[in-house]
Amino acid sequence: MKPSIEILSDPEQLARAAAQRIVVHSKAAVSKNGTVTIALSGGSTPKRLYELLANADEEFFSQISWDQVQFFWTDERHVGPDHPDSNYRMVNEAMLSKVPIESAQVHRMLGELTDPNEAAHRYDSLLKKTFDSELPRFDLVLLGLGNDGHTASLFPGTTALLEQHQLVTAPWVEKLNSHRLTMTLPLLNNAATIVFLVSGSEKADILTQVLDGPPSQFPAQLINPVNGQLTWLVDRAAATNLTLQ
Ligand code: 6PG
Repeated sequence: MKPSIEILSDPEQLARAAAQRIVVHSKAAVSKNGTVTIALSGGSTPKRLYELLANADEEFFSQISWDQVQFFWTDERHVGPDHPDSNYRMVNEAMLSKVPIESAQVHRMLGELTDPNEAAHRYDSLLKKTFDSELPRFDLVLLGLGNDGHTASLFPGTTALLEQHQLVTAPWVEKLNSHRLTMTLPLLNNAATIVFLVSGSEKADILTQVLDGPPSQFPAQLINPVNGQLTWLVDRAAATNLTLQ
């Protein structure tokens, strides 16, 4: 299925469009399965989205069955949950600390473990147990796009891109001089719905290369749901050079 691309006027409209999609997909999953599983992206782009969802004065909050949501992370830095770089910390501050959700519904990667491979293994096991499946299928996965074409913590030239068996892996990322924890392509591509959020003029070049350029050049281009829907929500600044306009 070809990905759908929606261009929003600015970052706020991008966040609102993403929030609306989360409401729609959550309602559908909850009515079908009594729960909704969402893998959250880190970085800065989705922060406003998380703030919108958590704001009881906004239209989205009351439309989400918070007691039936299970939150996961697509990736994490090799840091503890209180570290400024922690994706968990960003999501907790923007959303989780403000919504009626139990800690048992929040499944963070243990970035604080000294051995990142142990953290990856534990998350891999947690996913298999939680989903009762060797290859879990998320209802919804949120992803961002790095300037080098990475997504989650699947960076160009890393072994994580080749992983076809583990659900979670802990690649060494030379350019960051650190390990990362990341869901792998087989897991991500097994999702029912994947939504990329891309915002800002600084992403215009990479977004054009990813969407309009030759395939399989960047990790983000390897995101293709096997049996699911892929949507790109991008703002006008990031979409400046796209040919499809
Ligand atoms: C992370 C994210 C990463 C992010 C992109 C875009 O841990 O940083 O998972 O994949 O989505 O780097 O980041 P920005 O949204 O900050 O541009």
